[in-house]
Amino acid sequence: LLTPAAHAQRPKPNYDESQVPKFKLPDPLVTNKGKKVDSAEEWQNVRRPEILELFENEVYGKSPAAPKDMLFEVTSVKNDALGGKAIRKEVSVYFSGKKEEPRMDLLIYLPAKATKPVPVFMGLNFYGNHTITDETDVKLNDHWMRSNKDKGIVDHKATEASRGKSSSRWPIEKIIDRGYGLVAIYCGDIDPDYDDGFKNGVHALYNSKQKPAPDEWGTIAAWAWGLSRALDYLETDKQIDANKVAVMGHSRLGKTSLWAGAQDPRFALVISNDSGCGGAALSRRRFGETLHVINNAFPHWFCDNFNKYIDKENELPVDQHMLISLIAPRPVYVASAVEDRWADPKGEFLSVKYAEPVYKLLGTSGFGADKMPGINEPVQKQMGYHIRTGKHDVTDFDWEQYLNFADQHFRGS
Ligand code: GCU
Repeated sequence: LLTPAAHAQRPKPNYDESQVPKFKLPDPLVTNKGKKVDSAEEWQNVRRPEILELFENEVYGKSPAAPKDMLFEVTSVKNDALGGKAIRKEVSVYFSGKKEEPRMDLLIYLPAKATKPVPVFMGLNFYGNHTITDETDVKLNDHWMRSNKDKGIVDHKATEASRGKSSSRWPIEKIIDRGYGLVAIYCGDIDPDYDDGFKNGVHALYNSKQKPAPDEWGTIAAWAWGLSRALDYLETDKQIDANKVAVMGHSRLGKTSLWAGAQDPRFALVISNDSGCGGAALSRRRFGETLHVINNAFPHWFCDNFNKYIDKENELPVDQHMLISLIAPRPVYVASAVEDRWADPKGEFLSVKYAEPVYKLLGTSGFGADKMPGINEPVQKQMGYHIRTGKHDVTDFDWEQYLNFADQHFRGS
């Protein structure tokens, strides 16, 4: 990695399509030994495990198995939330099984009128569950977070002023009106988003004294692991249909939803919103954010082996289309925004396209888009994609598409 001074001198990001280097992507359907994969069985038994292992070893790092004795505590239930539309619950998950840190808090909204277990969207947030809702009686998050004056985060703690500050990204009423539930979790409950030498969060549960080995979990892997633990809880909740959980994330948390969905087949649908470098975007394109930049700016996100490929993207045994392929045959949706060039919209699109042969091999409708679709013109088959107008954010337009996509796959409509 670079010294801070050298990092400051880093090359300007490339936004010129003609400067994108020529590259050859590894083929998701050719095994490490060079054999062409031609059956669903060979994909499931040979190639998929190979790719999963490559991402574990070289990109995100290996995560431990689920702890044996987690403790789930329902801390509040409100049957007339959102003016009577929703049931709202808060649930604390104690990873060690004892009432001690690390602990993550789930905020759950479910349609009040549901007569059977409901499908849900689950997503991590940046500043605490109380920031996604305008309801002021939700618990104020008590964990470390990145200070942000505009968001009401002072000295790394949430203040009352932070309530509802991210609600534009979470249209809870719309989600409820469409018959879905929402499960929210603050990412920092699982692992605080800074380079602390892996001493805190769930890393502390496993690596209390030392930094993980170069092929062990970074923060993105820890967050993804936390999402799977939240799913462990959802499987115990009778009001939720745990076979219909869509995991959704934005930006660094979109990288996370992809990795969570890739590893844990219990996630029935996976959504990446503007996830960019280390998420949906192809690393080899070196458009906008690169491995060089991301690994220096956020040394804790990936495993240390990922640093080997800084400025040597062609040596990566994988690229991010293979991350998408790990989700097959389950529905996957990737979204980009025109002004979010940092995340490389075209690279995000191409990952979906180059994962399509796996979806086809597994007998699904695949993607069906050869060229990037027009702006605000979503493509939705087994694989979905859109590029919308606007900047790096989560908007109502994005949610509208995710809800339509979920209707198609969870309700056949
Ligand atoms: C930075 C980072 C991106 C990341 C984004 C976010 O811009 O470079 O990789 O996706 O933060 O999480 O908002």
